[in-house]
Amino acid sequence: MGKTPALVRAPGRVNLIGEHIDYCGLPVFPMAIQRSVRIAFDARRDQQIRLANRDPAFPASTFTLTQQIPPAPAGNWGNYARAAAQALVQRFPDLRGIDAIVESDLPIAAGLSSSSALVVAMALAILHANGVTMAPLELMDLLARGERYVGTAGGGMDQSIILGAQAGCASRIDFHPLRLTPTRLPADWRFIVAWSLVHAEKSGAARQAYNDRPRQCDEARRLIATRLGLQDDASYPTLLAAAPVAKLLDLAGTTLSGVLAKRFRHVVTEGARVRQAETAMARGDLAAFGLLLDASHQSLRDDYEVSHPELDQLVELAREAGAAGARLTGAGFGGSVVALCPAARAAAVLAELEARFYAPRGAAGAVGRYAFEAEASGGAEVVRG
Ligand code: GLA
Repeated sequence: MGKTPALVRAPGRVNLIGEHIDYCGLPVFPMAIQRSVRIAFDARRDQQIRLANRDPAFPASTFTLTQQIPPAPAGNWGNYARAAAQALVQRFPDLRGIDAIVESDLPIAAGLSSSSALVVAMALAILHANGVTMAPLELMDLLARGERYVGTAGGGMDQSIILGAQAGCASRIDFHPLRLTPTRLPADWRFIVAWSLVHAEKSGAARQAYNDRPRQCDEARRLIATRLGLQDDASYPTLLAAAPVAKLLDLAGTTLSGVLAKRFRHVVTEGARVRQAETAMARGDLAAFGLLLDASHQSLRDDYEVSHPELDQLVELAREAGAAGARLTGAGFGGSVVALCPAARAAAVLAELEARFYAPRGAAGAVGRYAFEAEASGGAEVVRG
């Protein structure tokens, strides 16, 4: 590695509301956070990518930029780098490789998108080393599809906010066509992120459960579209434009099996909550935003069935400590919760979580790593060229 290697940074994200609906083409409302993946790198003359990680838990990994990059075994961290590389090399066939050292202060498998932050950082490093630029929206879309290399059928939220976030703002992300619309966070709001201590490995154990959801949503969408007399490829936004939510829910009750009806109800009600939450933030209506977080959690727990007892408990404790509302964030099955509270209550909420959740689990010593106030950060960037 040269004396002053180039450096890129890609933040993690916390999704404020709009969970498990990006792959249905419905808007979501996340923000980037202050914790990030950073990659120091030097360009190479050949096609090799040589990766090291400052964390000894992640062994070094080397591969060659070819049209079909063979994956490392499932669950290997290097597959996220391969995902970025594979997507780029199919678009720009003559790319040269890099020597890269990765470091991160983002908790892994905690619902804060450490994996997509690695994908985005890797992509920016390879592009920069080759003097190639891409329009941000095009790169977001390329990497959202590219990350499916790891076997997860994710939507486009993570890569889009990681690349497109604005400091101090949450952003509504619309899909097809992709666009980001920022809303400034009110100065006296605080979003607290707290990890459940349960790893949610989307490319590992949770993969099957995650991938089942887009399939179920698609099946439900097709059946309802047909009932409405629409083409069976009509999208969720088309269904929502064709009929009010109450009518869609009625139809779901008479058309869909129990599980599909529940999945469908989550998707269409969560879509409505995103619009309401964006308005509540723009008005500074903290209480309204909090109620929407609570309703989202209930829907994710009961209808979408992606919660976990530890997440439910964190949500309860945050509310009891004075949060206006709280919910699981990210894919679920473990990972983190996000809670909203007035700035003046943030320290008290964190102290309560420490005393009632982390201390009984012997984790109070590292509470600063597990639970923190999220600061709305800017998107990924080349820090040093
Ligand atoms: C993961 C996926 C996202 C999104 C969330 C759930 O983070 O990568 O695309 O589906 O889960 O909202």
